[in-house]
Amino acid sequence: MIGLTADTTINGDAKAMQLEKFARYPLTFGPTHIEKLDRLSKHLGGKVELYAKREDCNSGLAYGGNKLRKLEYIIPDAIASNADTLVSIGGVQSNHTRMVAAVAAKIGMKCRLVQESWVPHEDAVYDRVGNILLSRVMGADVRLVDDGFDIGIRKSWEQAIEEVKAAGGKPYAIPAGASVHKFGGLGYVGFAEEVRAQEKELGFKFDYIVVCTVTGSTHAGMLVGFAADGRARKVIGIDGSFTPAQTKAQVLSIAQNTAKLVELGQDLVADDVVLIEDYAYPAYGVPSDETKEAIRLAAKLEGMITDPVYEGKSMQGMIDLVQKGYFPAGSKVLYAHLGGAPALNGYAYAFRNG
Ligand SMILES: Cc1ncc(COP(=O)(O)O)c(C=O)c1O
Repeated sequence: MIGLTADTTINGDAKAMQLEKFARYPLTFGPTHIEKLDRLSKHLGGKVELYAKREDCNSGLAYGGNKLRKLEYIIPDAIASNADTLVSIGGVQSNHTRMVAAVAAKIGMKCRLVQESWVPHEDAVYDRVGNILLSRVMGADVRLVDDGFDIGIRKSWEQAIEEVKAAGGKPYAIPAGASVHKFGGLGYVGFAEEVRAQEKELGFKFDYIVVCTVTGSTHAGMLVGFAADGRARKVIGIDGSFTPAQTKAQVLSIAQNTAKLVELGQDLVADDVVLIEDYAYPAYGVPSDETKEAIRLAAKLEGMITDPVYEGKSMQGMIDLVQKGYFPAGSKVLYAHLGGAPALNGYAYAFRNG
């Protein structure tokens, strides 16, 4: 059993944090599997050992993914508020809105989703397949809005909240990526706890954790969780937003808020946020040739599916960093696979020849 409180008994030298005082509504199967990426490690020269923590296989709810750890700490607040409708926002192929739709179905609430035009796309069925298809099938009220990419608080979302109220409903507002929410960072503090417990079983510690970063609360939660054992700067964020300054600032503010909530007892500063900006080009949601190659490589060597918006970019980043010698020889690197595979359906043209 994985403890949700970091204390010296369970986690050796990790600093004690207060995660257990927060209500948690279970939406996941339990601790996610860690697997060695043997063939990929060997292909890249064998000096660095790559592992993946399979957050993409964390639940039976509509294919799962990273948002569920966050929503586990947000849903108790939604239920306590007597809301009847979850209202959230993302791009057309948002994984987050799919997860909110799934959770609403599971707990018996309605779901109103704003899907903005965050991505220029070439597939005619982009707004029909993948994530948005699943959200529609799960009964969400899906509305398309013609606004561009922005990880901040959006007018269209505020308007949707007002519309639910005007129609006599009781909305509960969940921002993009479940990030700028008071409890948005807690879920990935729990991830770090879980990794520490798994490291005890494995008999070694990871030297680096690689994570894709966009709205920021996944990275922020990890930062707090791993700060407890001195590894905050070993969390290597790979930017997928292409607006890295805004993403970096958002990671820091969520991490600082989360650190207070769990009583980390340590100040987190800008330099603790390691965000590598080199792989998000040419735009959010648009895969470069190198991203596509990374997706193919992980698929062909490991049977592991990554997507063109998020995990393909962090996979590209991890591969490039290994090739550049960023990780010293002998390093053990944990790639957090955060989900997102359904979006691949919206990029059929890019992979028409494999
Ligand atoms: C599959 C996937 N990976 C990574 C991310 C980035 O996580 P965050 O928004 O918490 O930075 C998201 C969501 O935005 C996602 O859906």
